[in-house]
Amino acid sequence: MSSFKEIIDLNNLPQHIAIIMDGNGRWAKEQGYDRIFGHQNGVISVRETTEAAAEIGIKYLTLYAFSTENWSRPQSEVDALMELLIDTIEKETPTLNKNNVRLMAIGDLTRLPGNAGVKLQRCILETSQNDGLALVLALSYSSRWEITNAVKNICKEVIEGKCNIDDINSEMVSNHLTTKSIPDPELMIRTSGEERISNFLLWQIAYTELYFTQTHWPAFRKENFYEAIYEFQQRERRFGK
Ligand code: IPE
Ligand code: IPE
Ligand code: MG
Repeated sequence: MSSFKEIIDLNNLPQHIAIIMDGNGRWAKEQGYDRIFGHQNGVISVRETTEAAAEIGIKYLTLYAFSTENWSRPQSEVDALMELLIDTIEKETPTLNKNNVRLMAIGDLTRLPGNAGVKLQRCILETSQNDGLALVLALSYSSRWEITNAVKNICKEVIEGKCNIDDINSEMVSNHLTTKSIPDPELMIRTSGEERISNFLLWQIAYTELYFTQTHWPAFRKENFYEAIYEFQQRERRFGK
């Protein structure tokens, strides 16, 4: 059988793909390991998927790495996840540069512990000149947090007389979100069989195609990514017209 990479139409690629990386815990449990083992292996899938996206020229890949609600997990799991995230970002910076990948982050980064925020900003700065794939990490992110913030900031601008209530339109709202410089995703993937959005990019996915797969995130490989793109390309997008 030919691979999905060979049959996807390179002239009809989504510019932006967002992924809800789910199922690390279940994947690990199935093999008799603890949840952290699942998160560690999830890093391999992040690397693979980033490479897969860069290889075919995807412009934006947004990965849901940690939600606002994930702060409520047991402290030991939160600590392990934060350590893993920051460790990985530091270690992978040279590879990101080698592959012309620019790191970006969205979310309430002020909540990141210790020097995690500093290390993250360092990687963002050190890769900021790259003009290949933009890898957007959603960290301590939730859509309701983001939209609430946007509402606050727009209200401030109205009160300060910088704009009028009648100037508020959908474009202005988009420009007050953390994704303001990023086009809306055409495709959103969720792994591990759950068919829900879990507070991810609610505004941005108004017309996004959703793709759900049973594959757990740590088992997700390049071919799974290309299969999702192939499936996306078979769909008819109508935008209400
Ligand atoms: C996704 O895997 C990773 C994060 C949410 C950080 P989970 O940790 O949610 O794994 P499951 O869904 O419990 O299997
Ligand atoms: C969504 O997964 C968040 C991330 C992938 C970071 P969760 O596992 O936290 O979501 P629920 O609890 O199944 O909705
Ligand atoms: Mg989960």
